[in-house]
Amino acid sequence: MAQGTPEDAVAFLRHQHDEIRELFAAVEGETGQSRRDAFEPLVRLLAVHETAEEMVIYPAIRSSGGEGRRIADARTEEEDHAKKVLTDLEKLDPGSAEFEEMFGPFRAAVESHAENEEREAFPLLEQTTDEEQLRRMASALMVAEGIAPTHPHKAAPESAIGNLLVGPFVGMVDRVRDALRDATR
Ligand SMILES: [Fe+2]
Repeated sequence: MAQGTPEDAVAFLRHQHDEIRELFAAVEGETGQSRRDAFEPLVRLLAVHETAEEMVIYPAIRSSGGEGRRIADARTEEEDHAKKVLTDLEKLDPGSAEFEEMFGPFRAAVESHAENEEREAFPLLEQTTDEEQLRRMASALMVAEGIAPTHPHKAAPESAIGNLLVGPFVGMVDRVRDALRDATR
């Protein structure tokens, strides 16, 4: 997560998309333990990024009108699908053939989801939101990412409200799990 005063929400999210692309390339380019090491931060970043977008960005896009609703529905559907696949991927050994088989299509789907956001959702948000609001949204995204679950939760309700309700509790459970894992390395 970016430190200090965040730029506007769209710059913040575009920057995270670039980080996600780099991590995808790292996972595909590595094998064995190096691949595992690259996969962990990818899972964490995808989980908090998608939840924060669902909590902060899509409600604003949806409330901007018919076109906003269409875009928000399409992108949310893609996110729900990605969350399910990521939950399945997390159960596999990143060194296994099964992981390899699932990972390529997953990467393609998430990258095309990010491109769709950059092409339609973000420009619409910039058109319908003033600069001050975009800065406030960047702060809200940072807070949301601070309490969001750090792993995908397939069983969690698939909506912004659902993520908001389960986020803090599930997020705390995830943070304890991460701290334990890091402590036992
Ligand atoms: Fe995104």
